[in-house]
Amino acid sequence: MLESKRILLGVCGSIACYKAVELASLLTKAGALVDVVMTPDATRFVGPITFQSITHRKVRHDLYEHWQGDDLGHVSLAEADLAIIAPASFNTIAKLAHGFSDNLLTATLLGSTAPLLIAPTGDRHMYAHPATTANLVTLRERGITIIEPESGRLASGHEGQGRLPEPATLLGHIRLALGRNGDLAGKRVLITAAGTKEPLDPVRYIGNRSSGKMGFALAQEALDRGASVTLISGPTALKPPIGAETVWVSTAAEMADAVLAAAPQADVLIMAAAVADYRPLTMSEQKIKKGEAQLTIHLARTTDILGALAERAADMPHLLRVGFAAETENLLANAADKLHRKQLHLIVANDAATSIGSDDSSITLLDASRSETLPILPKAETAGRIIDRIVALLQGTPRGSNDNST
Ligand SMILES: Cc1cc2nc3c(=O)[nH]c(=O)nc-3n(C[C@H](O)[C@H](O)[C@H](O)COP(=O)(O)O)c2cc1C
Repeated sequence: MLESKRILLGVCGSIACYKAVELASLLTKAGALVDVVMTPDATRFVGPITFQSITHRKVRHDLYEHWQGDDLGHVSLAEADLAIIAPASFNTIAKLAHGFSDNLLTATLLGSTAPLLIAPTGDRHMYAHPATTANLVTLRERGITIIEPESGRLASGHEGQGRLPEPATLLGHIRLALGRNGDLAGKRVLITAAGTKEPLDPVRYIGNRSSGKMGFALAQEALDRGASVTLISGPTALKPPIGAETVWVSTAAEMADAVLAAAPQADVLIMAAAVADYRPLTMSEQKIKKGEAQLTIHLARTTDILGALAERAADMPHLLRVGFAAETENLLANAADKLHRKQLHLIVANDAATSIGSDDSSITLLDASRSETLPILPKAETAGRIIDRIVALLQGTPRGSNDNST
């Protein structure tokens, strides 16, 4: 989504300038055209040459130096798809709140209509000062997005709020802002991810190999395209994308409760989680001790979430339901059967042996009218193709019933 996007990266005088270098690198690697504008004080912390080497574009820091010849200086810089100041000093924040334009960065931003993100950074008392608070209120009221500083150890050695978030987090905020008017704007998308864990005793559980990568990639893609995303995830080490409202669950029963509670408010449900079909009938209160050569565990069926939603389909006629079928045999036949039984609008069939836990996947998309097999792709790209089909279904198909269910 960042390919060929023009991003203006404003950098102020702060120890955290080094994080702006990494942000410039992440943006450039993602295909963005990054124009770095430094305040004169910022150049005392990091040299322009560092940014220039990373972005392969001219780095500017002098209002007058660039006001010559064919270079329109701050006027052309202002025509970005998005502007972000990271780190933003309290000094520059004060200037922006009051409309100053005394250096290249403030002059450029005063003349820019691009969406603006500001990441205040610095000493905790400077951040908490009533003057800073008032300036940030003013900027928020103008529709500018303020990325809250994080709490932790500050350069001063004190603990407090003032740290610039990590570059990957800043990138998440940029994606969120760029996607705001995408083709899922105004839609609420509910996505489940990762596997569930069904406890056997206080230390053991029955689980599966699902990593959550597909569900998290779908959440990022839906956010990139402007959706409001609720991500209901089983345990995983993955970090949820910035902007997703994340609900953490552990068991299939918790997953069912969370999905059934959120589904009535959603426009789209994508069930990418690997939910256990069976759980231990009872959970031993104490750790099961090693004993006989064989141990028998009785299992009970868990709630069939998509089945329960199919029964309530008439109550949620607006909800587009997308399921996943991870199979080790008869992939397409099993997926087509699930599409029909669960009254889904779309099913994603994938080979469990190669897709689960991997960074890539090879899927077939099946709906009432057609089937499409995609090549092996990174899950981020597969997610894009799945969302393309969902957007097409949202735009073209009246919902409430599915041809397959009749
Ligand atoms: C070592 C050092 C670190 C600084 N870090 C910050 C900071 O994180 N945030 C901040 O608002 N000011 C910080 N300052 C003060 C600013 O650099 C100073 O207010 C400067 O005028 C900001 O100019 P600018 O807004 O044009 O970049 C720091 C100063 C020094 C000497």
